[in-house]
Amino acid sequence: MVPRQRVVVASAQVRSLMRILITGAGGQLGQDLVRHCTEAGDDVIACDRAALDLGDRDAVAQAITSSAPDAVVNAGAWTAVDDCEGDPDRAWRINALGVRWVADAARRVDAHVVQVSTDYVFDGTKAGPYVEWDPTNPVSAYGRSKEGGEQEVDPASTIVRTAWVCGAHGANMVKTVLRLADRPELAFVDDQRGSPTFTADLAQAIRRLAVARLPGTYHVTNQGETTWYGFVRDILEASGNDPAKVRPITTAELDPTRPAPPPAQPVLDNAPLALGVLPRPPPPGDPRARGVGGHGLQGRDRGALEEVNLCGIDVGAADLVADVREARARGEAHVPGSDHRDLAHRVVPSAFR
Ligand SMILES: NC(=O)c1ccc[n+]([C@@H]2O[C@H](COP(=O)([O-])OP(=O)(O)OC[C@H]3O[C@@H](n4cnc5c(N)ncnc54)[C@H](OP(=O)(O)O)[C@@H]3O)[C@@H](O)[C@H]2O)c1
Repeated sequence: MVPRQRVVVASAQVRSLMRILITGAGGQLGQDLVRHCTEAGDDVIACDRAALDLGDRDAVAQAITSSAPDAVVNAGAWTAVDDCEGDPDRAWRINALGVRWVADAARRVDAHVVQVSTDYVFDGTKAGPYVEWDPTNPVSAYGRSKEGGEQEVDPASTIVRTAWVCGAHGANMVKTVLRLADRPELAFVDDQRGSPTFTADLAQAIRRLAVARLPGTYHVTNQGETTWYGFVRDILEASGNDPAKVRPITTAELDPTRPAPPPAQPVLDNAPLALGVLPRPPPPGDPRARGVGGHGLQGRDRGALEEVNLCGIDVGAADLVADVREARARGEAHVPGSDHRDLAHRVVPSAFR
């Protein structure tokens, strides 16, 4: 007999195959979003900057209304934090006004918007982690423009704030450290705390939120926190280098100082996720494998991610998969299309490879 909960799950999963338009598809997060949604079976419309300039209202309207997606993930942004300081108008145009054009077009076709935002909306002076309801107070042009973007989306939209993003497809701290690992000594700041977040995990969480059309703001980071110094030590250690070669310094010792002051303690508490809305992303695992090797996780990390993957497709998907596996272990033949087990095969094929 099929437990009642699984019937509910089944109907939700059918909806999970959607048409999704992704802006900034050539970026670090964008590329993993495209990969993840494609693997999940979505009809993905991937728009990199060449295909869709967020600063061009007509182009945004045309792209979204003509394709009428179920969801739009706005992963495009001007992310050159220090450069934004020198050209705040450009930051406003792309990171705030661009979101207005996305929200307007999405509204016309009832597409759910997921706006990707940042820890830079906070000043980083809070003693503990920031929850989603904490007041914002950006201290840089980039942060102000991203806060502006948050204000442009409808209340029914999803805002995903993340931080310290690393992925296989972009410039990130893991790659930087590996490039510098031959140097006899490195120095990284030990007074800025955060949660390194890998795009493969972030992409899963974003898709889950889009599928469920969950409204409101969500902080989404990998679990655990560290400083840049601590993260660099982890990267060196994971890559077989000597972690002792990195020296802790303070932000005040940076020379030259950065034009855009980063928030000092932008640790994001994933409060609604912790309250049970959806599973939280796991701890980051081996930073080297994640930030360079991308998705090819090994051993324990791979197992952990698969578990999250399955939960991520929809609550209860892991149960479905476990059910199929148990049936297989009992030697039962699986007849495609016969029952809920077929749903597990179709919706989470990666679990059966
Ligand atoms: N990286 C982080 O540590 C971090 C932390 C917190 C939040 N975030 C947020 O996460 C999201 C994704 O960031 P990311 O790390 O993937 O950065 P990214 O690699 O710089 O990706 C952003 C993408 O947006 C594109 N873009 C720039 N201007 C555009 C425009 N006018 N129209 C359309 N696309 C444009 C960029 O294209 P070009 O490369 O061609 O310019 C790039 O491909 C952003 O919203 C960012 O604010 C990032």
